[in-house]
Amino acid sequence: MANGDEQPVGTACEGGRAMTRQRVHLLDSAEAAISGAAEEVVALLREGCRRREKASVALPGGETPHPLYRLLAERYRDAAPWDQIFFFLTDERFVPPDHPQSNYRMVREALLDPLGVPEANRFPYRTTRIELNRAARRSEETLLQVVGRPPRFDLILLGVGEDGHIASLFPRFVPPGERWVTAVRNAPKPPPKRLTLTYRTLNAARELLFLVLGERKAGIVEEIFRQPPRRTDLPVHRLKAERHVWFLDRAAGRALLS
Ligand code: 6PG
Repeated sequence: MANGDEQPVGTACEGGRAMTRQRVHLLDSAEAAISGAAEEVVALLREGCRRREKASVALPGGETPHPLYRLLAERYRDAAPWDQIFFFLTDERFVPPDHPQSNYRMVREALLDPLGVPEANRFPYRTTRIELNRAARRSEETLLQVVGRPPRFDLILLGVGEDGHIASLFPRFVPPGERWVTAVRNAPKPPPKRLTLTYRTLNAARELLFLVLGERKAGIVEEIFRQPPRRTDLPVHRLKAERHVWFLDRAAGRALLS
């Protein structure tokens, strides 16, 4: 496939959409991939606000998106109507919101606070003074109220772990099919207790944007794009949203260079 071309992948989807359209951008450096992802994020959120007045996005934690959030806050401050956007997290570690491992803490410090996003537009998971399952149910209720049922996010940004997990959906973990948000009790990546959007929610999004960088992701990227697939347990292979867009640097995407 030529770099950046849109290709149909997969077959018929849940929800009546015919096909997933996939674009893969393989860039020379991590900086170029992050910049490309930033342009895509801003374009989608602007478009969502233009069409529907409000837009919604779910953001991951992890190391990879941190420089993207900083770039958005520094260079794209005037490029999107940030106060018209509802911010959710793809997943959260079940730790207090000021804990070093909290995804909300990272996203708040790198993006939401610098952009001055109103508190009313932030929807972090509740992780204190609440039981894990109850927290999942509460987040699900909020998600359906704010984004709709099905929740059609304008954009869900995803990283990919070295073991292939996305959000807190790990290989071999199959969340209850009817849920939009679920609790995870024994994640292989610490901390073990987590909250996550489910495949059902990811698949209802208008676009899934994957940002995958660095040598340590080269192996999993090769598995994800291998044809025919060698593994049957990869979370990415369960995804079938309307559009999937990948931003990779050469180190992560070297298997695609041919
Ligand atoms: C989390 C993330 C998770 C992340 C991947 C990749 O809370 O752990 O939301 O899904 O995206 O683990 O993480 P890195 O970017 O740190 O490799």
